[in-house]
Order: sequence, then C-alpha cells, then structure tokens
Amino acid sequence: MNYKQQVADFYNSRANYDNDLTHSRAVRLLNYTQLHPDYSVLDVATGTGSIAIAAAKQVKSVIGIDIAAELLKIAQQKIAVEQLTNIQLLEIDVEAYQAEPEQFDAIYCSFAIVLFPNISKIVQNWYYFLKPNGFIAFSCSSENSYLVDTIVESCAAHGVTLPNLHYLLGTPERIQNLLGSIGFHSIEIHPHQLGKYLTVEQAQSRWSGKFWLHIDNPLPQVDPAILEQIKASYDRAIASLATDQGIWHEELIYYVIANRA
Ligand SMILES: C[S@@+](CC[C@H](N)C(=O)[O-])C[C@H]1O[C@@H](n2cnc3c(N)ncnc32)[C@H](O)[C@@H]1O
Repeated sequence: MNYKQQVADFYNSRANYDNDLTHSRAVRLLNYTQLHPDYSVLDVATGTGSIAIAAAKQVKSVIGIDIAAELLKIAQQKIAVEQLTNIQLLEIDVEAYQAEPEQFDAIYCSFAIVLFPNISKIVQNWYYFLKPNGFIAFSCSSENSYLVDTIVESCAAHGVTLPNLHYLLGTPERIQNLLGSIGFHSIEIHPHQLGKYLTVEQAQSRWSGKFWLHIDNPLPQVDPAILEQIKASYDRAIASLATDQGIWHEELIYYVIANRA
C-alpha cells in the first residue's frame, strides 16, 4: 500500500481521535501565537479541526486541509455545531495543495509535519504562501520520543535499519538549521514534556513489532520469523529499562514558531 494511503487509513480508523488530550495539545500551539481579526489562516493536516475552529473564532478566514476524510467529517460536524461560516475544509494532500503567493498571514501544522515525506520542500512552499512578516507554527517531537530509540536499536540488532520519522526535526538545532536555511527568522522553540512512566507491559504493548509509519518502512519486506525476533528483542530491551517508577516514555514536544522576512 502506498505510504499516503497508509497514513490516511491509520487516521481514518481512529474514530476516537478527537478527545481532550489531542485537543489541548493542539490548542497549546495556537496559544504561543497571536492572531488578528483580519488574518487569513491555513491549518495544514487539520484533522478534526482543533486549531482551525479555535482560530476561526479570532480571524477573518481559515482553510483546513487534510487527507483523512473521516477526521474532516468530524471537523465539519463541529463547525456546524459552532455555526462558523469562515472555515473551508479541503480533502487534499499537503504536497498537492497550491496556494497563491502571500495568501496567508499564518500557517499552522499541529502534530503532523513529521508525517510528510518531503518536509523541507513543504516548508519552503509555506514560506511562499505567507505574506511578508507572516508566521508558521508547528509541533514536532524529540528524536527519542515514543521509545523510538529502543525500537530502532531492536531492529538494528537483527540487521534491519528503521528510519526515524522524528530525526529531521528531532532537536532544537536541527529545527533552527532547517528553518534558517529556508529564510525564516525569529525562530522560537518551546519544549513541552508530555511524557510519563508506563508499566513494563504498557511499554511493551506500545510497539507490535510490525507497524511503522515512514515512507521508507522496511518492515513489510522482513521475514515474519525475524519480525518475531525483533519484537522479542524490543520486549527484553524494555524490561531492562525498568526503574522503581516504571519505564520512562518520553514525549517531548517542540512547539515552533518562525517568521517570514
Ligand atoms: C496526529 S494528526 C493531527 C491532527 C490535528 N492537526 C491535531 O493536532 O489534532 C495527523 C494528521 O495529519 C494528516 N496528514 C498526514 N499526512 C498528510 C498529508 N500528506 N497531507 C495532508 N494531511 C496529512 C493526517 O490525516 C492526520 O489528520
């Protein structure tokens, strides 16, 4: 199955995606920024519309785009309940979406940027979609969040190289470098720890040994017997990390704001 379809299916199947946690972690990004009543806003990968809807109450117009039709339906229902008339939702891939140059004052992308295969190119597009002095605001995670390092090491122990979705934007330095190379300035990075301790069983169940979201995911080509060995290695590695408090499950979020010249 192609990668984009896999991403869309994954989110379409999450009927309970819209909850207090996903809402509050998204709206936190909005709270790091300032909107004005005459603004035009783009919410990339809007999902169930947490940012688009909150922004629409403060600005002139909002466009929300996403590839997950089921999440967009939930967003549309919420928009109807709120009787908002200044939000347009489009079911479209971020790579295919073409705005006018200097169309937007602000572009948001909450908990989604790492899912895009060509992040650099997309952020460059956003630069041209922004008005002078406009801003982007997105969230991403540290490269070691979600036990990724343990998963990657367990695969490596069996000769499988697993690419890490969180690598490119996984440290403040890399975020600065990428955005700086595109021309953004006044780059603010606000770290926020959402991590918690899990029991060994909870941490082991966080990875099935099969699922991995990445365009270059090698796991579908790996022999099922090796996959079982990889999962067993992962379970052992997790057990060895246990402390009195349990297993630390890092979820270090970087909320990033940057301005166009
Ligand atoms: C974790 S959800 C975040 C949703 C929302 N921004 C929020 O913070 O609640 C990730 C979203 O990215 C969307 N997405 C992933 N790849 C995409 C792409 N190539 N184009 C548009 N949307 C995409 C998914 O469909 C999903 O709705």
